[in-house]
Amino acid sequence: MARPDARRYSYAPPCSLGDGRLIANHSHKIGGRTVTITQKTPNHDWDGKSGDNWVTHQLRLDLMLEAFGDAAMKAAAVEPGEHILDIGCGAGVTSFALAERVGSGGHVLGADISPQLIARARADAPDHTPVDFQLADAATAPFPQGVFDLLFSRFGVMFFDDPAGAFAHMRHGLKSGGRLAFVCWRSAQDNDWVRLPMAAIRDIVPPVPADPMAPDPFAFADPARISAILTDAGFDEIAITPFDAIIPYGHGTTRDEAIDDALELAFAVGPLSRAFAGQPDDIRARAAAAVRTAFAARPGETSVLIDGAAWIVTARNPGG
Ligand SMILES: C[S@@+](CC[C@H](N)C(=O)[O-])C[C@H]1O[C@@H](n2cnc3c(N)ncnc32)[C@H](O)[C@@H]1O
Repeated sequence: MARPDARRYSYAPPCSLGDGRLIANHSHKIGGRTVTITQKTPNHDWDGKSGDNWVTHQLRLDLMLEAFGDAAMKAAAVEPGEHILDIGCGAGVTSFALAERVGSGGHVLGADISPQLIARARADAPDHTPVDFQLADAATAPFPQGVFDLLFSRFGVMFFDDPAGAFAHMRHGLKSGGRLAFVCWRSAQDNDWVRLPMAAIRDIVPPVPADPMAPDPFAFADPARISAILTDAGFDEIAITPFDAIIPYGHGTTRDEAIDDALELAFAVGPLSRAFAGQPDDIRARAAAAVRTAFAARPGETSVLIDGAAWIVTARNPGG
């Protein structure tokens, strides 16, 4: 990401908060006034506000992510009777879809670190479906060893502090020859659902330089990094394939309603929401107007249709 004009921008190097996160202060001169952003590296409080927001907006988020999850499931080539661990399963929608594929002879364990999302998944689980949910940090949870045919995830594996350690830990849950299949975002620059609103607000709240290694939705943007992490974790036969889809962002019965809904979603979940945390109302109002204009330039009647770009990643546990 290009660094903003140095004459308008000052940046204090990050310092440690002592809990694994960093804190940095960024000052920007905008329209004669200085805006200071104090940013902690994202900690994605999945047991707090992030988890609450994902529960609140679950239906819209599922609409947005459906095509990507379907592509990952196709790559996973699920067979009836298989045992699957769905990592960072959220509200369980992918776990239910996987359970349908494995049938009564198989089983799906959905694991997630967010109590709110696990509660939602348990509440929504259809009767007589071979699925269970576990509140767990997938990086360290004592999963049964050597029992799963497949580790699956839809956008749930980019938030580990030590990704190679986490994947090595989860790999031990796989049978010899067992598979890994997940979908993760390519870069924010490749994803218009982020790039467009962030560009629209650049002169209102300029971008904060991101650490590409920090746990974050875009932490796996670099395929070389994914490959290195999975190799370190002991996987082989690693394949990383681009997958593009039009994202139906937000939903409404009219175009105006859809644009308003997309705006609400952008301010509640994802990078835009984090850019605005703690900003005063006047800045938020100006930014909302700018983002609305950017969304209104996109096609779509009942959703704002925006390009999304992901990697479909598959790999294998050696042996078997
Ligand atoms: C972007 S959401 C995706 C949720 C779900 N897979 C979906 O597609 O709707 C990321 C999910 O990963 C979960 N998560 C983050 N870190 C985790 C960890 N260390 N162990 C288990 N789940 C984690 C979050 O709680 C959240 O539900």
